[in-house]
Amino acid sequence: MEIELKFPKQFFWGAATSAHQIEGGLINDWSDWEKSPKRLKHLTDNKLNHFEHISGQAANSFENTNADIACMQELNLNSYRFSVDWSRIEPENGKFDQVALDHYLNFVKKLRAHHIEPFVTLWHWPIPLWLRDLGGWESKEIIKYFDRFTQKIVSHLNSEVNFWVTLNEPTVYTGMSFLQGQWPPQKKNPFAHEKAISNLIHAHKLAYKTIKSIDQNNQVGIASHNIYFEAYKNHPINRLLKKGADYLWNERFLNKICDYQDFIGLNYYFHNQINFNLKEKHQYEKASDLDWGLHPEGIYYLLKELKKYNKPVYITENGLADKGDQHRSWFIGEILKNVHKAINDGVSVKGYFHWSLIDNFEWAYGFHPKFGLFEVDYNTFERKARSSAQYYADICKNNRVI
Ligand code: BGC
Repeated sequence: MEIELKFPKQFFWGAATSAHQIEGGLINDWSDWEKSPKRLKHLTDNKLNHFEHISGQAANSFENTNADIACMQELNLNSYRFSVDWSRIEPENGKFDQVALDHYLNFVKKLRAHHIEPFVTLWHWPIPLWLRDLGGWESKEIIKYFDRFTQKIVSHLNSEVNFWVTLNEPTVYTGMSFLQGQWPPQKKNPFAHEKAISNLIHAHKLAYKTIKSIDQNNQVGIASHNIYFEAYKNHPINRLLKKGADYLWNERFLNKICDYQDFIGLNYYFHNQINFNLKEKHQYEKASDLDWGLHPEGIYYLLKELKKYNKPVYITENGLADKGDQHRSWFIGEILKNVHKAINDGVSVKGYFHWSLIDNFEWAYGFHPKFGLFEVDYNTFERKARSSAQYYADICKNNRVI
């Protein structure tokens, strides 16, 4: 017999995207980096197609917001997480573009008209060129610039928006950009890394105060990329190593901003088995097109681990690259069963945002990983539902998973 798992009333069913990955036509540090001689040489040396790795028009979402809203409607979403692009809003230091500000205002108004609650991310990685040239996240100056930008966009959209995500996965960004040297500004420098982390923490805190001072009812948090570290066979050494990993990766940033957040945004993609003798590697039954092992149970444990913060949790991202749509419905179903179990165990989970609404530009990987519930034809920009979209639409409509 099939068991029906009902979700709490007013649960937010959503999908997520970010500006750089779908909007198109952006001029920021990422778009500049994509076309830099160093990057193009890297692509050529690795026999990678340049066009596939330059965001360009992306999914053309900025030009055609209606196409995305139609996808949301087809999914029966009651919420949508997206990001505004800083370089569009403030293309020059201190000069704000009224047309861009109004574009986002009209967009959130349209969402509201369709009974879709907007969750707005203020920074999902790229920054304007002028700010990059002033030192980007390595420079303390960015704290005041981020605050000024926050003040501007939040007061402009405040009448329509209640939920604000200041920063997306700050530690993924700092790791990739300042330790691994893979993303702009491509450094491998632990000191630069620590500076960036510290500036991100301060920027968040100040932005938090600003958003609350604009409207006390605003709900503010970050989207934190947490990994489920599993201590293999519960061995004491593995447990100890897990504690360290949890602290460094999952908790350090959240602890620092603890008193400056109304909710926790959880982005869940990875499970990592901690095994000190490294002999047995975890075998995943299923993997995504990026060969990321799929481990839906992990979200249950992560949610339980977040309980100690005593804050509502929104799953601000979760998804997989799956061009053929082989595993997506299964994955969504299993993830949601685990979310339901965590809710039953007392974790206050208030929403789930699937990554992603549509196929998008997957950062350094380019366009080839397909995360979308909807497939995008990059010649016509047409959106076409993958079959998992139907599966998810049914869940969103009935507020339950079977
Ligand atoms: C990021 C997204 C990205 C997704 C899939 C998350 O870490 O926030 O921008 O597309 O993972 O890799």
